[in-house]
Amino acid sequence: MITSDLSFVKDQLEKGEVVGIPTETVYGLAANIYDEQAIAKIFSTKGRPNTNPLIVHVKSMEQARTLVSYFPLKATLLAERFWPGPLTLILLKSDLISDAITAQQSTVAIRMPNHSAILHLLESLDFPLAAPSANPYNRISPTCAAHVEDYFPQISILEGGNCEAGVESTILSFDGDEVVLLRHGAISIEQIEEVVGRILDRTSSESLHLAPGRSKKHYSPLCELIISYEPLFMLSAVQQKKVAILWFKEVKIDSPKVAINHILSPSGNFKEAAANMYDALHQLEKSGVELIIVERLPNYNLGRTINDRFERAAAK
Ligand code: TXA
Ligand code: MG
Repeated sequence: MITSDLSFVKDQLEKGEVVGIPTETVYGLAANIYDEQAIAKIFSTKGRPNTNPLIVHVKSMEQARTLVSYFPLKATLLAERFWPGPLTLILLKSDLISDAITAQQSTVAIRMPNHSAILHLLESLDFPLAAPSANPYNRISPTCAAHVEDYFPQISILEGGNCEAGVESTILSFDGDEVVLLRHGAISIEQIEEVVGRILDRTSSESLHLAPGRSKKHYSPLCELIISYEPLFMLSAVQQKKVAILWFKEVKIDSPKVAINHILSPSGNFKEAAANMYDALHQLEKSGVELIIVERLPNYNLGRTINDRFERAAAK
C-alpha cells in the first residue's frame, strides 16, 4: 500500500515493520536499526544474503557521530560538503551498531539522505533507519513508489514522488589518509576530488568483500541487456525479434529492426539521464522486449556512474 501518512509509517516502524521509504537516490526498505527482528525482516524481504551489510540513514551529523567510534577529518569535510545528500561513508562503528547491520564487520555505512519526507520521518523517530535499496536482490532499483509496490505488494510505502537523483549514493571508505571509492554513485569522483584531492578507485577490486553494489551482476532487467558505444553495429548480429535501444540523447538511426527507441536525456544532460535510467529499464522490461541495447555514455562525471550500472546490468 502506498501512503502519504507520515504518522502511520512512523507507527509501523516503531512496531518493528519494514516499510518502503523515498530518498533522493532510490527508494529504500527501511527498519529500526535497534530492532533485531526488523533488521532480519529486511534481509528476508529482499532475499539478500546476510553477508551483505546495510546502510544506516541518519537525521544529523550529531546522530551519525553516536554510531561511529572515529570520524576522520576527510570524512568530516565530505559530510559537511555533501550531507544531506547522496554520499555514504564507511566508518569504524560504535557499540550502538549490531553485527547484523554490518555483516560482522567493524565498519558501518552511514548517510544523511536529502529528501523532505524521509528527513521529517527521521526527525520524528528516536532511532536511525537501516535501508538497502527496495528491490529484490540483483534486480532493477526503484525510483518511484509504484516500482516498490510492484516488487513488494505486502509492505507499506511512503509516497515521495520520483527520486531526484535516480541512482544510488556514492560510497567511500577511509584507509589511513586515503579516501577510497567503493561504489560509483550520484556524486561524481570529480566532485569528491574537489574537496579531498585524489582518491583511490577500488570499485572493481576483486579482492574486496563482494558487496551487492559491487558484485559483477546487479541492477538487472529480466530480459537480456548489452551496452555499446555503437548500438547500431550490434544490431546486425542480433537474433531477438523484439529489440529496444536505450539512447543517451538522440536516436542516431531509426532501424526497422528496432521495436522501441527510448531516450534518456534529449538535452544530453548526465543528471537527467541518471534520474531516468532505472525507470527506463522498468518500462522497457514491462514492454516485453527480448533485448535492450544501451548506448554507452561518455565516461566522466555521472556518465561513469551510469555506465557502471549498465555494465553490471549487462553482466552474465
Ligand atoms: O542511495 C543509496 O545508497 C540507497 C538508498 C536507499 O539510501 N541504498 C542502497 O543500499 O543503495 P544497498 O544496500 O542497495 O547498497 C549498499 C551498499 C552495498 O553494496 C553494501 O555492501 C555496502 O553498501 N556496504 C554497507 N555497509 C558496508 C560496510 N561496512 N563496508 C563496505 N560496504 C558496505
Ligand atoms: Mg541496492
